[in-house]
Amino acid sequence: MRVYVEEMHGHVGAEVTIRGWLSHRRSSGKLHFLVVRDGTGTIQCVVFVKDVPADLFDRAGRLPLESSLEVTGTVRADPRSPGGHELAVGDLRVVQEAREYPITPKEHGTAFLLDHRHLWLRSSRQHAIMRVRASVVRACRDYFDGRGFTLLDAPIFTPAACEGTTTLFAVDYFGAPAYLTQSGQLYMEAGAMAFGKVYCFGPTFRAEKSKTRRHLTEFWMIEPEVAFADLEDDMALAEDFLVEVVRRVVAERRAELALLERDTAPLARVQKPFPRLRYEDALTLLAEKGKPVAFGDDLGGDEETVLSEHFDRPVLVHRYPVQCKAFYMKPDPIDPRLALCVDVLAPEGCGEIIGGGQREDDLDALERRIRAHELPLEAFGWYLDLRRYGSVPHAGFGMGLERMVAWLCGQRHVRETIPFPRLLERLAP
Ligand code: 4AD
Ligand code: MG
Repeated sequence: MRVYVEEMHGHVGAEVTIRGWLSHRRSSGKLHFLVVRDGTGTIQCVVFVKDVPADLFDRAGRLPLESSLEVTGTVRADPRSPGGHELAVGDLRVVQEAREYPITPKEHGTAFLLDHRHLWLRSSRQHAIMRVRASVVRACRDYFDGRGFTLLDAPIFTPAACEGTTTLFAVDYFGAPAYLTQSGQLYMEAGAMAFGKVYCFGPTFRAEKSKTRRHLTEFWMIEPEVAFADLEDDMALAEDFLVEVVRRVVAERRAELALLERDTAPLARVQKPFPRLRYEDALTLLAEKGKPVAFGDDLGGDEETVLSEHFDRPVLVHRYPVQCKAFYMKPDPIDPRLALCVDVLAPEGCGEIIGGGQREDDLDALERRIRAHELPLEAFGWYLDLRRYGSVPHAGFGMGLERMVAWLCGQRHVRETIPFPRLLERLAP
């Protein structure tokens, strides 16, 4: 019977067949130990000289790593082995004998590994990170699907900028200029006026021209948008969402987080309420920590690191000066120098994982801001319509999937949190 390694516990004593790839091999006299990986787990397959024909025993002892195999044998419970089981091999079929595998147990540099990303994904750490990523995606979807949000996909080709013109990727759209989307937000605002609560989840693109540990040029973002919501509602939603997603992923991916040697104690502290910090109070804190920032300047990566190390759970930094933020932010009526916006900084030095806020809902004010940002008014005609026909207060946010996964997995850099990273100097494989 053909089984997957993760199902082995149900087959102790039975003869089964597994299909996979050889990830380790060692021999001692009359025994060969073949560790086989099938994507769901790994299992040690023991080939005993007396159990198989001589030529097969001989071949098993010379098989190159990553050869693809079909192994038949009897499942034995073995508390000492990693998955708790091993296979006493009765038969072995080599599907393909691999050539010399370029990734060896020795230390490789990151550039080499990224060049071999198509193969690197087979390694146990990368495998664990991708499984965590898959769980984050599912937890995010379940969160919104279970709370009355409608999934509404945003377009990838767009006629205008959402997050500033400096990071746009231009493409030729039948002779006319178009841009790869930086964020689905503007479309979600249209969606919120049609469905009340919506979210999108898709790839977004930014021509980030600097090399940092937090920036990819292609990343995935989940973006909820809610009609009749203000900044307070938005912060409460972001907080509740993060608590739930972290709880789910930690529960579902214990084994993967353990393999990554992730201490989950800090993740267990991700409970309400999160601290809320006004931008101006963040400046005071930064000054105390020897990182002074002038009022009006944005917080950079270093400042985010300092703030996120100060708190034991995510911190909601709100009301940045309007000039730090995008054109669509609503100014605070109490102090119009400030925008009704929020950034959520994850702890442990991770930095911003969520950005969002309350949107400008007044037609004239929004039009003035589009002009002030020197954006093409024609391209925003449809967006201004949303303020002409039943405008309401509304708010939303975007969470960067890769930064979230990096935080949960305890990865400093986002490059290993997406299957095939796109960076300033990397478009392959
Ligand atoms: O703060 P940002 O730019 O906000 C927006 O795009 C809003 N329009 C979202 C909204 O309100 N619907 O980006 C949101 C998040 C960041 O907090 C970060 O997690 C991630 O997207 N992000 C990136 N992740 C990886 N690489 C990049 N270059 C990123 N830029 C932003
Ligand atoms: Mg941001």
